[in-house]
Amino acid sequence: MIIAKELTRKFGDFTAVDRLNLEIKPSEIYGFLGPNGAGKTTTIRMLTGSLSITSGTVKILDMDIAEKPIEIKKRIGVVPEEPKMYGNLKGKEFVDFIINIYKVNRQETLGRLKELCDIFDINYLEDFINDYSHGMKQKLMVATVLMRKPDVIFLDEPTVGLDAKSAKILKMLIQKYAEEGTTIFFTTHILEIAEKMCKRIGIINKGKLIAEGTLNELRTKSRYKTLEDIFLELTGGEEVSDLIKEL
Ligand SMILES: Nc1ncnc2c1ncn2[C@@H]1O[C@H](COP(=O)(O)OP(=O)(O)OP(=O)(O)O)[C@@H](O)[C@H]1O
Ligand SMILES: [Mg+2]
Repeated sequence: MIIAKELTRKFGDFTAVDRLNLEIKPSEIYGFLGPNGAGKTTTIRMLTGSLSITSGTVKILDMDIAEKPIEIKKRIGVVPEEPKMYGNLKGKEFVDFIINIYKVNRQETLGRLKELCDIFDINYLEDFINDYSHGMKQKLMVATVLMRKPDVIFLDEPTVGLDAKSAKILKMLIQKYAEEGTTIFFTTHILEIAEKMCKRIGIINKGKLIAEGTLNELRTKSRYKTLEDIFLELTGGEEVSDLIKEL
């Protein structure tokens, strides 16, 4: 469903993503972890066609992103790090806008949206997006992606800004969608979420994929057992307690 080969992005002389290889299978939940600035958002933006690729290739749903960007965009959903929505639209106008540009079946999509709004307590579609809090925007963004039932969904730190109940609902929805065949690629800094939800985990550090596998596979390659300890060992965070003691 997602194949990246030697995917690379440079900003000037700086290599933000360095020869990344990924292969994500249908209905897999793949967690993409890494420290701040590791290259997660840059990777998602290249995989979803919102940032040009310096070198390497991306195939989504067996189509090359360089050849069929529109066809791919129709069949994927993206929840970006910062929900970018038109502030001077009302929520319901944003929903109409999405239905129109993606040309999805209106009745079916609105039916699904209604269920999602009920679950997420979204009762503010009559208000202007400019007046929403970050969490309110995030929930609407998630709902407008899920209402289209895309084949592949990319989520960049989707639980940031969500209250505990909404975060729990989102996790359950991701699992339900994956069970129904959707492929999920998401980033998170909450290792507990990755531990509980992901079939496979990839860890990126300084632009390079430094580990990948199921949690059990990662454990066999480390002297540690918890994902937090494995993550810190691999990304050089082990020494923090010594540094704190020295403060
Ligand atoms: N448009 C840009 N121009 C220049 N450098 C950029 C640009 N976008 C990202 N970078 C750099 O690329 C690196 C990776 O950034 P990226 O946003 O992918 O990190 P991230 O893993 O998503 O981090 P975080 O966990 O903080 O969201 C960083 O060093 C960042 O400064
Ligand atoms: Mg990011």
